Amino acid sequence: MSDTSTPPGPGDGGTHSTADEQPPHQPQAVLVTGGNRGIGLAIARSFAAAGDDVVVTHRSGTAPEGLRGVVCDVTDTESVDRAFAEAEALLGRPVEVLVANAGITKDGLLMRMSDADFDAVLDTNLTGAFRCARRAVKGMIRARHGRIVLISSVVGLLGGAGQTNYSASKAGLVGLARSITRELGGRGITANVVAPGFVETEMTEQLSEELRTTYLAGIPAGRFATAEEVARVVRWVAGPDAGYVSGAVIPVDGGLGMGH
Ligand SMILES: NC(=O)c1ccc[n+]([C@@H]2O[C@H](COP(=O)([O-])OP(=O)(O)OC[C@H]3O[C@@H](n4cnc5c(N)ncnc54)[C@H](OP(=O)(O)O)[C@@H]3O)[C@@H](O)[C@H]2O)c1
Repeated sequence: MSDTSTPPGPGDGGTHSTADEQPPHQPQAVLVTGGNRGIGLAIARSFAAAGDDVVVTHRSGTAPEGLRGVVCDVTDTESVDRAFAEAEALLGRPVEVLVANAGITKDGLLMRMSDADFDAVLDTNLTGAFRCARRAVKGMIRARHGRIVLISSVVGLLGGAGQTNYSASKAGLVGLARSITRELGGRGITANVVAPGFVETEMTEQLSEELRTTYLAGIPAGRFATAEEVARVVRWVAGPDAGYVSGAVIPVDGGLGMGH
């Protein structure tokens, strides 16, 4: 037996690690759905800047500058399966981190909400995330490692007048993450929900000054989040420091939804 197995002692000049030392970053293979704009793009750029191997999905057009992309419509199982195959070819290995971010709203009062608008939002936001998670866990189970991050919303647990479809879809992601956790937690796979509040995006930029003031009054932080603040939390929960965090709902909402 060689003496390299002897643990280095204090003062021996060896490379002993302390609790504060971080091991070198191991690049992860990351897929972000709807990563061509908005919060998804910020998440993808954040992973890429940290040295991870990133692919985004986009429905049409081309991938955003500096990122690799595959075409995917999350409402179509064949499209999801094809996108994963293409992403894994680009990454050179199975997806290790899935960020299910693609989402839509079709707001309307309950009495006037059509079946089509209710179904469309559920199909994209909830069933779309399910389709992606189902495909992603194939490789994760084999690797005995995986991170699934579902982008929900504060509205999922707080509710939102005029948003029965959106709120139900975002609440459904909690059950999805928790059931994945119970089913696959023993295989090194975590599944968590990140629930942003109001985020500075093209959508919130278009709010009237009056509505903006009303919304801001309800946010203890007194401001909207930046997409980068959401991205940093997603990266943390997908990273090595959060290996024992699963089935959690992590708010990034400045306190707006606290208590839920
Ligand atoms: N903005 C906020 O304040 C806020 C707050 C809480 C939660 N969220 C959640 O955060 C996520 C991102 O929001 P965002 O504000 O960045 O939205 P966004 O700018 O409208 O972007 C939505 C993304 O989802 C994609 N997408 C929509 N339907 C799709 C489908 N059927 N298949 C594949 N991709 C699809 C879009 O692709 P295209 O470019 O092809 O349309 C786009 O990339 C959503 O899940 C949203 O519910 C947002």
